[in-house]
Amino acid sequence: MTETLDIQITKTTHSRLQETDFDNLPFGKIFSDHMFVADYADGEWKNFQVIPYGEIGLSPAISALHYGQAFFEGIKAYKHADGKVVIFRPDKNAERFNKSAERLCMPTLPEDIFLQSLAAVVDIDRDWVPTQDNHALYIRPFMFATDPFLGVQPSATYKYMVLTCPVGPYFSKTLRVKIETNFTRAAEGGMGFAKAAGNYASSMLPGKTAVDEGFDQLIWTDARDHAYIEEMGAANAMFVLDGKLVTPSTQSTILKGVTRDTVIKLAQEWGVPVEERRVSVAEIVEGAKNGKLTDAFGAGTAATIAPVGSISYNGEEYFLIDPKEREFSQKVLKTLNDIKYGVIPDTHGWNFPV
Ligand code: PLP
Ligand code: COI
Repeated sequence: MTETLDIQITKTTHSRLQETDFDNLPFGKIFSDHMFVADYADGEWKNFQVIPYGEIGLSPAISALHYGQAFFEGIKAYKHADGKVVIFRPDKNAERFNKSAERLCMPTLPEDIFLQSLAAVVDIDRDWVPTQDNHALYIRPFMFATDPFLGVQPSATYKYMVLTCPVGPYFSKTLRVKIETNFTRAAEGGMGFAKAAGNYASSMLPGKTAVDEGFDQLIWTDARDHAYIEEMGAANAMFVLDGKLVTPSTQSTILKGVTRDTVIKLAQEWGVPVEERRVSVAEIVEGAKNGKLTDAFGAGTAATIAPVGSISYNGEEYFLIDPKEREFSQKVLKTLNDIKYGVIPDTHGWNFPV
């Protein structure tokens, strides 16, 4: 049975809400008034607190800074027209949070603590949930190692925290993407399936290189042959090829996206054939050339449904049909938004009210 968590709440004496420009919300730069903090020590989670957002004092020797024992999650809360606030599928993130924890040799967090911590921060800052189209309160739970010790071994102490940010869409335009055949995001046996901070560190040079070449994002390929598609930047790669929804199966190198899972469930309900399997670069390039690739998008919490305008491979750029004319991703985007913003009934139990 779920026990109510004993959370000590300290409210801010100066809310920044009134001075925040909700018409100009750069992703991840504006934080709401409060944050959640908990400590792990002596084999248990304790000191559950909601406190004003702000700096925290830490030893410069903490192992998270040196060896990267750190990971995170990304979730969104939405406001309905009647003022109700919901968090979208946080139970899936709770599950993935613990998969990341296990892979990084860090303590797991009971699902009810995870869910109650999210509810606590969203509740106290519910006025920070934006109301404009395609806007949300982005929720960032994360955990990191806090032992001040320079030996390479799992830390005995950790911090778990949750921040929230009012945000608009992460990508504002149709993406020009490049299939990456040099760098690798993750290899079999590595930690690609975990939302480890280090995965994002290793993606920065390839990402910056792609941007310097004029692309918006890159498509990761398998570490061994660079012949199979894995993910698209910080989103899962999804395609409509020959009338079927095709997406790479989630083996150990791929993050099992909640958005990906949601899109697959909707497609199945609509009778669209779904193939979760290895997806070769060759078939995607061929489909882009012969017109059988009728849709391509990145699927993620921050990214939402991010349409791909063109795919480049080995110096050739292949253009896809105008995103507005794509039947599948347009329908997915509308249905997803209608569910999240409470326009249509949530028959799947995906919205967790706060
Ligand atoms: N893949 C990577 C590498 C990501 O960072 C994300 C974003 O969270 C996703 C996929 C999509 O996952 P989700 O839909 O759960 O946000
Ligand atoms: C998310 O969609 O939550 C992500 O993790 C993307 C993020 C790295 C900006």
